[in-house]
Amino acid sequence: MMIEITPWLDRKKGQSLYSELYKYMKGEIEAGSITVNTRLPSIRQLAQHLTLSKNTVEAAYQQLVLEGYVDNRLRSGYYVLPIDEVTAIPPTMSPPVVCESKDDTEARYDFAYGDIEVDRFPMREWARCLTDSLYEKPFEALGYGNKQGDPELRAEIASYVFQSRGVVCHPDQIIISSGTQQSIGLLCQLLQLRGERIGIENPGYHGVRTVLSNHGCIVTPISLEHDGLSIDELVMSGSKAVYITPSHQFPMGMILPIQKRNQLLRWAEDNDALIIEDDYDSEFRYVGQPIPALKALDSSGRVIYLGTFSKSFLPAARLSYMVLPTSKMEQVYKELQAYNQSVSPIIQRAVYLFMQRGHFARHIRKMRRIYYSKHSALIRAIIQLMGNRVDVIGHKSGLHILLDVKGRDSEQLIEQARKHAIKVYSPRDQWLEPLSCPNSYVMLGFGAIHEEAMEEAIQILNQAWFTQHV
Ligand SMILES: Cc1ncc(COP(=O)(O)O)c(C=O)c1O
Repeated sequence: MMIEITPWLDRKKGQSLYSELYKYMKGEIEAGSITVNTRLPSIRQLAQHLTLSKNTVEAAYQQLVLEGYVDNRLRSGYYVLPIDEVTAIPPTMSPPVVCESKDDTEARYDFAYGDIEVDRFPMREWARCLTDSLYEKPFEALGYGNKQGDPELRAEIASYVFQSRGVVCHPDQIIISSGTQQSIGLLCQLLQLRGERIGIENPGYHGVRTVLSNHGCIVTPISLEHDGLSIDELVMSGSKAVYITPSHQFPMGMILPIQKRNQLLRWAEDNDALIIEDDYDSEFRYVGQPIPALKALDSSGRVIYLGTFSKSFLPAARLSYMVLPTSKMEQVYKELQAYNQSVSPIIQRAVYLFMQRGHFARHIRKMRRIYYSKHSALIRAIIQLMGNRVDVIGHKSGLHILLDVKGRDSEQLIEQARKHAIKVYSPRDQWLEPLSCPNSYVMLGFGAIHEEAMEEAIQILNQAWFTQHV
């Protein structure tokens, strides 16, 4: 293997260039960045690359040969020789101290929120759409793409949000982006929300709270009541916008009733304020009728609607969208001209084909049935096995629940579960002050666990938590 070498040579330092080059190469060989048996560039190549004379490079190589770092093989070139193995640690072996290593211990059942069951994913259809996306309209698929997002995909999304969520919009009101956090970041920039007071649910999705705060918004926590956001607190807060998950509050799971939805819309109108509605998982509802999105009631153009494909289709697509009120389009459209689209046009075309060919509608119908039976199996097992030692919180829709394991400590619960090869999680980060999260809460995402395995998973959890405590 031959490498290129690009040292920083300070031509004004007063040292000879040959000595600087020699010291640099010696250091890199000792550090292991230039590894044993590496073929160094030829004298001519390196001289040309570094705009040095051949004599300078040759002198540096000679010194390395003399000191036993490098071997000059006749007609073959200069090769790095082995040195004391202890000193030869490649620089990539030790991770930077700031990176926390991920807990990748094997678990028999992992209740991670956000995971999907890979075996149930329509891999063949998706692979076909991905391949076809390259050939169908290569010019569209292989370039930067439309700044707002692929027009045909936006038309499919407009039709989907109307049919499934009652949201009426023109495809030109839609902006595609690569996930809910990116949508929020883009909104902060396009609508210049820096310095504005934004109300957020507390507890609420910390992924969005972090982005708002990093964009310089004055993030103002608004408490939850048994039926969702406290409108009284919002009114008192003096916010210019509010971020809310009305159809399935994250993480507590309540559904904002119609009275509060109307009050919220009135608040926005009276205060010239905006409502950012995050409708992340409303496709999956297990109790009662589907309720339309808040945006469907928005007659005065106050609601920005956020949707994502992460729950309904695939987190790895990194595809989300927002529907903007027409009153904001002119400002947004002007600002957007300086931005490139963040989602690969290949993925956008493939998702468009997936929707247009009817796979998406079929996938949602199938996943509704599957998640319904997973959810039933989960709740049934919890009630049967754990009884009144736990309360289930937020079980009417979505892909996660909270468990209140009465009188117990979540850290211990997580550890006891881990010892039985089950992973469960704390929802603590969703509270603005994590210590305000009740200690007895744990969070279970059930998207990736097969319904037939649910009872066994809960049985093991029950054993882990309760056998030595009853
Ligand atoms: C409240 C909420 N919104 C949105 C999302 C989805 O985010 P993304 O579109 O980045 O996958 C999640 C997923 O964790 C969520 O909990």
